[in-house]
Amino acid sequence: MTFDRRDFLVRTGLLVGAGALAAAGCRSDDEARRAGFATGLDTWEGVRQSFELDPRRVQLSSFLLAAHPRPVRLAIDAHRRRLDVDAAAYIQENEERLEAEVLQAAAAYLGVAPEEVALTGSTTMGLGLLYATLELRPGEEIATTEHDFYSTHEALRLRARATGASVRRVRLYDEPALASPEDVVETIRGAVTPRTRAVALTWVHSSTGVKLPLRAIADALAERDAELGKRKTLLCVDAVHGLGVEPEQLPELGCDFFVSGCHKWLFGPRGTGIVWGRAEAWAEVRPTIPSFTDRESFQAWLRGRDPTATSAAAFTPGGYQAFEHRWALAAAFYFRQEIGRERAAERVRSLAAQLKHGLLEVPGVTVRTPFDEQLSSGLVCCDVPSSTSLPDEFVKRLREEHGVVASLTPYATSYLRFGPSIVNSEDDVDRAVEALRSMV
Ligand SMILES: Cc1ncc(COP(=O)(O)O)c(C=O)c1O
Repeated sequence: MTFDRRDFLVRTGLLVGAGALAAAGCRSDDEARRAGFATGLDTWEGVRQSFELDPRRVQLSSFLLAAHPRPVRLAIDAHRRRLDVDAAAYIQENEERLEAEVLQAAAAYLGVAPEEVALTGSTTMGLGLLYATLELRPGEEIATTEHDFYSTHEALRLRARATGASVRRVRLYDEPALASPEDVVETIRGAVTPRTRAVALTWVHSSTGVKLPLRAIADALAERDAELGKRKTLLCVDAVHGLGVEPEQLPELGCDFFVSGCHKWLFGPRGTGIVWGRAEAWAEVRPTIPSFTDRESFQAWLRGRDPTATSAAAFTPGGYQAFEHRWALAAAFYFRQEIGRERAAERVRSLAAQLKHGLLEVPGVTVRTPFDEQLSSGLVCCDVPSSTSLPDEFVKRLREEHGVVASLTPYATSYLRFGPSIVNSEDDVDRAVEALRSMV
């Protein structure tokens, strides 16, 4: 499914609703649309103007927690106002339609079916729910790597502690800048034994900026399974630093489960996330938190029966939500469709390359993220000479003295990390490089 501009405007108009727009302070739909979207998303300056970022700062850490672009702010505000006026009526009359709209918008962006998408509050929530319940037969294990984030490692540790399941960790590279796609694929393939049920990976490592070649890994896993005559090894991916940057749609990647927050590079509402599972893969997990999305679970409860199979809807954690954020997720996907996936990917690639080349010229700075686009995405990690100042202090000085917002990677080996994104310009990147040059 694709969206054209008119569709985007019409759908967002429908999403926000005339009454809600009035409630949001707009006199007419046209005025609201002008306020929301007519900011010229065909230029990068126009995209930047959709955000309320502090103009004095160069924001290179959107990968931590996204700012909301105008369409998302408008949608949140409109839903919030209607919930504030009469939550019961707004939910009763709109919940099903608005949730379906979010699922459809997400599915269209991801290139999958809406029934295969579960809604969560973050990457961590999705990973926790997935690894807590992935069906393991006695003796089966999950393989992962040394490069994943706390959320994957801790979810696997908790699972192992609760059930005695075993987790095997492999190292894919020593020096990230020298990582090779062939070695990465071969190491993962070699980690699969007859007992491996799933491989838990991270698409773009937040520790180093290395991007894994997911398609090649999926193909290697299929070959390995055939060689060993075993059932399918499930490829489960923390995709949060790829979603909203990389242009591929999910069927191209070959994963079985794709878990992501929508509140980083996608610039969706804070506190939103998704889990996508291949249609057949949903049978491999169990719901943990009772779903309010899945009608079947609720009907079964009313009739005193057990629900039959797991689905994405049943996996979606229930309880009432911050619905203004959840429902505004549709606007985030429309916004990204309007900008264009390939165009955004090209932009981020080009800014990241500019940054890496700039950093290369700064004496004493070592770029840790590969230059090869096959193995890198928007994240850029580097080392500064240790004699300059402590890294924590360095990030603080970058922000306070130069207005450049970066971060440190939260890992045992820590690097200085930048994330140029669709909100940035070439000047921003130059400013970051010059700031660093003046500090080392
Ligand atoms: C690889 C990775 N996964 C997950 C997270 C956490 O994401 P969320 O806030 O969506 O749980 C982070 C960092 O915030 C991360 O770097």
